[in-house]
Amino acid sequence: MSKLSPVLSAHWDEADSFTLEAYRRNGGYQASKKALDMDPDAVIQLVKDSGLRGRGGAGFPTGMKWGFIPQNDGKDHYLVVNADESEPGTCKDMPLLMANPHSLIEGIIIGSYAIRANYAFIYLRGEVVHVFRRVQQAIEDAYAAGLLGKNINGKGFDLELVLHAGAGAYICGEETALLDSLEGFRGQPRLRPPFPAIAGLYARPTVVNNVESIASVPAIIANGTEWFQAMGTEKSKGFTLYSLSGHVKNPGQFEAPLGITLREILEMAGGMREGHELKFWTPGGSSTPMFTQEHLDVPLDYEGVGAAGSMLGTKALQIFDETTCVVRAVLRWTEFYKHESCGKCTPCREGTWWLVQALKELEAGRGTSDDLDKLLDIVDNIAGRSFCALADGAASPIVSSMKYFRGEYQRHLDLGSCPFDPIESTLFAGVKA
Ligand SMILES: Cc1cc2nc3c(=O)[nH]c(=O)nc-3n(C[C@H](O)[C@H](O)[C@H](O)COP(=O)(O)O)c2cc1C
Ligand code: SF4
Repeated sequence: MSKLSPVLSAHWDEADSFTLEAYRRNGGYQASKKALDMDPDAVIQLVKDSGLRGRGGAGFPTGMKWGFIPQNDGKDHYLVVNADESEPGTCKDMPLLMANPHSLIEGIIIGSYAIRANYAFIYLRGEVVHVFRRVQQAIEDAYAAGLLGKNINGKGFDLELVLHAGAGAYICGEETALLDSLEGFRGQPRLRPPFPAIAGLYARPTVVNNVESIASVPAIIANGTEWFQAMGTEKSKGFTLYSLSGHVKNPGQFEAPLGITLREILEMAGGMREGHELKFWTPGGSSTPMFTQEHLDVPLDYEGVGAAGSMLGTKALQIFDETTCVVRAVLRWTEFYKHESCGKCTPCREGTWWLVQALKELEAGRGTSDDLDKLLDIVDNIAGRSFCALADGAASPIVSSMKYFRGEYQRHLDLGSCPFDPIESTLFAGVKA
């Protein structure tokens, strides 16, 4: 029996799934009609009751975040959708926007109404031009149909929706850096407090939510909290998109209830590529501590992954088989974090540079066992001592790979070179290193 629970992805295989016509044919824009007949506070309460948690990485309860916006304060409020998706391995928001952009637009109408916002923004990673064009078209179609703009559905609610193309910086996915970037400044994280709910975009009360979080709301409004709660686990409710990539037979998106295991998803994906076995994997992108074979049955919900020593993050399951050199994989990720460090604080700006130098030496088999401790010492001076979570993310693959594969680091040093054949050792299936 399939364990999948397609909701957002239910119609992705229909050729015109991204159009307004198809979205309406499949029941779209009924939920926003329903929501606009409700009291805004009742909408917030319904989302709270559903147990929906943010799908952008931290798993913060969405309804509670909406409830932090001060009401009747006479100020403009804003809803900002984080569509920056840049974490290595994370590839759920872009396919969702390509195949089903109206689920996000409908979610934005509902969310904006609930928090009493008349302006909403989508901050989209600008490099993905095809997605930008698709979302732009969907917004134009929604305006033309009277679903956005003045007096939506004749209910007296006005909403202007702006699509903004980011210039491509991982740090602009961090919500306060995103707000700075949206305001036209260089994207760097802000000091908190004040939190965005009090002083966010243009210093006004602002909610920042991930694409998938907002796109999940229409189905919850349409089907009710019990329907949503029937999926998932005790504290991690509902369905979600798991992105499977790497050395597997059939990579892709698997929409399933929270709490499913990698073993089950792998089975549905046809398993590892022929003749190979699982070596290590990430449960939620490169900034979540890696797992190994022993974690195949860990429930992929916030609590289960946390209890096993990692984080659910963005549910980006990157799979690596035994041909992959773990030191090389960690070096590649660390190069990414060094490149993306915004430079605001010293431990991260300098530390990620040093980590790359140290890992390059270790991968080439140069150094002594003391250098392994030095590596962990550098990490110690970065993680938890930097301004934002990018630096903690940079530390994760190093600490976790040393926990499970210290012997492999040592083997590089014993041999004086990388023990993996550079042709065989591929980071991604089909791509020769
Ligand atoms: C370095 C960094 C990059 C991030 N990138 C993203 C991103 O691309 N998309 C996203 O939704 N959240 C990203 N986040 C998390 C956001 O700061 C924020 O928590 C999230 O957008 C909140 O949405 P949610 O409550 O719906 O999950 C990032 C965080 C950090 C520290
Ligand atoms: S931790 Fe890194 S990315 Fe975050 S503020 Fe400091 S330098 Fe910038």
